[in-house]
Amino acid sequence: MRLLLFLSSFSAATAAAISARQANTSIQYSTLVADSFIQRGVSKTNRYGESVFYRGVELTYNATGNESYATWVQDQIDGVISDDGVIANYPSYPFSLDDVRIGTILLELYTRTSQEKYKTAAATLRAQLDRGPRTPSGGFWHRQPTYPNQMWLDGIFMADVFYAQWTALLDNSNTTAWDDILLQFSLIEQHCRNTTTNLLVHGYDESGVAVWADPVTGASPNVWNRALGWYLMALVDVLDYFPTNHSGHAQLVDWLVTASAGVLAAQDASTGGWWLVMNEPYPGMDKNYIESSGSAMFVYALLKAVRKGYIGSEYISPMQKGYEYLANTFVAYNGTNGTVNWEGTVVVGSLGSNATFEYYTSVAVDENDLKGAGPFLYASVEYEALA
Ligand SMILES: *[C@@H]1O[C@H](CO)[C@@H](O)[C@H](O)[C@H]1NC(C)=O
Ligand SMILES: *[C@@H]1O[C@H](CO)[C@@H](O)[C@H](O)[C@H]1NC(C)=O
Ligand SMILES: *[C@@H]1O[C@H](CO)[C@@H](O)[C@H](O)[C@H]1NC(C)=O
Ligand SMILES: *[C@@H]1O[C@H](CO)[C@@H](O)[C@H](O)[C@H]1NC(C)=O
Ligand SMILES: *[C@@H]1O[C@H](CO)[C@@H](O)[C@H](O)[C@H]1NC(C)=O
Ligand SMILES: *[C@@H]1O[C@H](CO)[C@@H](O)[C@H](O)[C@H]1NC(C)=O
Ligand SMILES: *[C@@H]1O[C@H](CO)[C@@H](O)[C@H](O)[C@H]1NC(C)=O
Ligand SMILES: *[C@@H]1O[C@H](CO)[C@@H](O)[C@H](O)[C@H]1NC(C)=O
Ligand SMILES: *[C@@H]1O[C@H](CO)[C@@H](O)[C@H](O)[C@H]1NC(C)=O
Repeated sequence: MRLLLFLSSFSAATAAAISARQANTSIQYSTLVADSFIQRGVSKTNRYGESVFYRGVELTYNATGNESYATWVQDQIDGVISDDGVIANYPSYPFSLDDVRIGTILLELYTRTSQEKYKTAAATLRAQLDRGPRTPSGGFWHRQPTYPNQMWLDGIFMADVFYAQWTALLDNSNTTAWDDILLQFSLIEQHCRNTTTNLLVHGYDESGVAVWADPVTGASPNVWNRALGWYLMALVDVLDYFPTNHSGHAQLVDWLVTASAGVLAAQDASTGGWWLVMNEPYPGMDKNYIESSGSAMFVYALLKAVRKGYIGSEYISPMQKGYEYLANTFVAYNGTNGTVNWEGTVVVGSLGSNATFEYYTSVAVDENDLKGAGPFLYASVEYEALA
């Protein structure tokens, strides 16, 4: 996979995308992008990038009923776990929330096939949550040993949607588990939300020792679009599982509603996309740019939130605008054998850095990054369902 420096490659890639584009005759991007990645091949690993992409293929399967997608995901996963449910190359760290994300796909496969190996593998990930290290307030560390006492928005999507899916499927009357899931979101809300903008910064360090930690809240200083995208997706997805008779349900909806308002207010007026670094004074600033993965996550989360009735229909038109910008800008007819590429996704944003604007904007942008292509599939399925 090529790593591209944004400034040197973006205009060339965009020009290639535009010049090589076919006329838009209501292209169905969900199947186009899924088929392109399937044709080129996706490595069989349990990493979170692949896991995020598989969910997009699962959603495309549900939307189309095309069994090839279901078969493909199962074949990919069968390359990662043994017949008795042992996950290859697990754990990647003593404890990392990123390792847990594949559990959502394992439970999809278990539900669909009833094969015990998927449940066994998922149980390994569920057990990790019982023994992993926590902050003094009970939040999962993002990773041990690398990020002690730190919670990141990313980790909420990686671990807590699975935690809720597992609990709903196999342990639904476990109130301790539901309370614990709510606590993870609650700690993020307490420490990371700016109540003026309703945007949330990337994470916080409960021990306050990280170089970027705010002396009072422990919060990191900036709103990174992909971290906030993970979080919005976690909110809207966890509500698929969280019991409506638990008081936390209304609380989660409230957090989703207010964060959605913040995301809408931060949408770039001219393009309909979202800046890599979203907090003032950075939008529009030199070196900042409209980044594709976080933008796709917002379109997905907010369109799904409308469909599920959490937010109003006034969100549809701005999200359509955002989606059309992404489709027209970041899908490039430039791949192998007539397949399309997905452009403009930043490789990483880590709180192992100094968390400054300079850091976030110094990270390379990647082509065909699964962390962007996957959420674009989610957004495509929601967008296409509007038609
Ligand atoms: C794809 O686009 C890149 C620029 O991003 C260009 O260098 C390359 O030649 C293009 N490849 C094809 C097959 O069009
Ligand atoms: C189903 O999906 C496969 C794999 O992407 C594709 O090759 C095939 O054309 C699709 N079938 C239909 C009927 O759309
Ligand atoms: C697809 O639909 C099935 C049946 O309704 C559901 O169990 C599954 O969770 C859906 N998949 C995704 C990824 O939402
Ligand atoms: C919510 O409903 C479920 C299923 O009916 C039940 O097991 C659970 O005890 C209820 N929880 C509360 C907090 O009432
Ligand atoms: C209920 O959830 C808690 C918190 O995750 C966990 O420690 C406990 O083992 C669960 N109980 C059962 C019966 O699974
Ligand atoms: C919240 O955002 C506002 C508007 O950008 C800013 O003035 C304020 O400093 C932020 N608050 C914190 C705690 O960062
Ligand atoms: C395709 O073109 C139609 C007609 O101009 C437009 O309404 C639609 O938004 C476009 N779709 C995308 C994804 O750009
Ligand atoms: C491209 O298509 C050719 C001819 O069908 C095939 O031999 C080749 O393997 C394909 N390449 C990739 C990367 O799919
Ligand atoms: C933060 O790190 C970036 C590179 O990641 C560097 O360019 C910048 O100078 C650093 N800023 C501070 C204040 O250390």
